[in-house]
Amino acid sequence: MARVPFIAGNWKLNKAPSEAAALAKALKHKLADRGDVTVAVFPTALSIQATLQSIAGSGVGVGIQDISVSPRGAYTGTNSGVMARALGCTYVLVGHSERRLYYGEDEAKVSARIRAGLDAGLLPIVCVGETLAQRRAGQADAVVHDQLAGALVGLNHDEVVKLTLAYEPVWAIGTGETATPAQAQAVHASIRSWLTNAYPAYIPNQMRIQYGGSVKPSNAAELLACPDIDGALVGGASLNAEDFAAIVAAAIA
Ligand code: PGA
Repeated sequence: MARVPFIAGNWKLNKAPSEAAALAKALKHKLADRGDVTVAVFPTALSIQATLQSIAGSGVGVGIQDISVSPRGAYTGTNSGVMARALGCTYVLVGHSERRLYYGEDEAKVSARIRAGLDAGLLPIVCVGETLAQRRAGQADAVVHDQLAGALVGLNHDEVVKLTLAYEPVWAIGTGETATPAQAQAVHASIRSWLTNAYPAYIPNQMRIQYGGSVKPSNAAELLACPDIDGALVGGASLNAEDFAAIVAAAIA
């Protein structure tokens, strides 16, 4: 089944509100003609409102980079999915390797955030991916399968089908080093076959699996041409409107 491509921009800890507003305004203009490609951006929480205001009416979704497992309460320093949804967010990023590495997000925490996101009415993008050492040890597929099993535990079929997955090999994030299309396609196919073993066929057929890790205008087309790569999660290149628009253009059939 043909899946509609989904390109997401993860702005990480960049773009203060005024800069985010300017980038969003440029994107609204440059992405006006994008066919049916789904597009979303993930500003830092402090810039979500400015981004929403500038991008309103464009159909580009806005998401939050992380949420607390609780909708409210005594959790100083965090943001909640319910509040992000109330603000106008559609998506939440979960399990990004930087969250796993710097904030100790293990499978249980990833799974709890998916639960909190879905309960708040947000659509999670769930990131998985192996380190260089794990790849060299021949464990890439096994690591990704374990992360999936841990992340998706307890979700019913209606919930699983709402997720987008992002395969982001840790060694390719922010390093300039991209997985070759063949390397990425192999893991994407293995994720889809893991889904096929675990769920009824409509789920692996419908679920979009993005590739992430140094995606840029020069490599987007060949990655997106792979049969199991349904989009991209873009970090560095999403901070520049022209580059991000070029990646979206590469996804237009
Ligand atoms: P990158 O980041 O495109 O800068 O490698 C991707 C990501 O972290 O999602």
